[in-house]
Amino acid sequence: MKIAIAADHGAFELKESIKKHLEEKGIEYTDFGCCSKESVDYPRFAYRAAASVAKNECDFGIICCTTGLGVSMAANKVHGVRAAVCTNEMLAEMTRRHNNANVICMGQNVVTTELANKLVDIFLSTEFEGGRHQRRVDLLTDIENGIEI
Ligand code: RB5
Repeated sequence: MKIAIAADHGAFELKESIKKHLEEKGIEYTDFGCCSKESVDYPRFAYRAAASVAKNECDFGIICCTTGLGVSMAANKVHGVRAAVCTNEMLAEMTRRHNNANVICMGQNVVTTELANKLVDIFLSTEFEGGRHQRRVDLLTDIENGIEI
C-alpha cells in the first residue's frame, strides 16, 4: 500500500507526526509537501496528493490543513477523488465502508495527534462494502462527469 500525504502550513506538524506513524507501521508514502510552517496556499498541496491518488500512483491520500475543510474541497475537485473530512472514528470507518473514500482529510486544530493516527489506521484498514453502496458511488461519478441523475 502506498499513501500520498500532504498538508499546508496549518497542519505541517500534524503531517510530520502522521508520517512518523506510517513509518512505524511500515507503510510507504510520498510526501507532497509543504515542507515548513511558512504560509502556503493549501489547494496546491491538496491537488498534488489527490492527483497522485487519481492517477493510481498512490492507493490512498491523507491531506491536512488547519480545519481539514479547504484541502477536502480542493481534493474533491480532482476527478476520481472522494475525499472526506474525518473528526471521529465512526466517520473514518463509514466513509470507507459506504463512500469508498480514497482520501482522508483532517484538521490540525480539530483532531489530536493521537486521534489522527487512530483515524488513519481505521481509514486504511476498512474495506468498502460495495453492493448498494457501489451504485451510489457510481452516481457520484455520474455527477462528476456532468451526467444529470
Ligand atoms: C490557513 O490559514 C487555513 O485557511 C487552512 O489551513 C485551511 O484550514 C483552510 O481551509
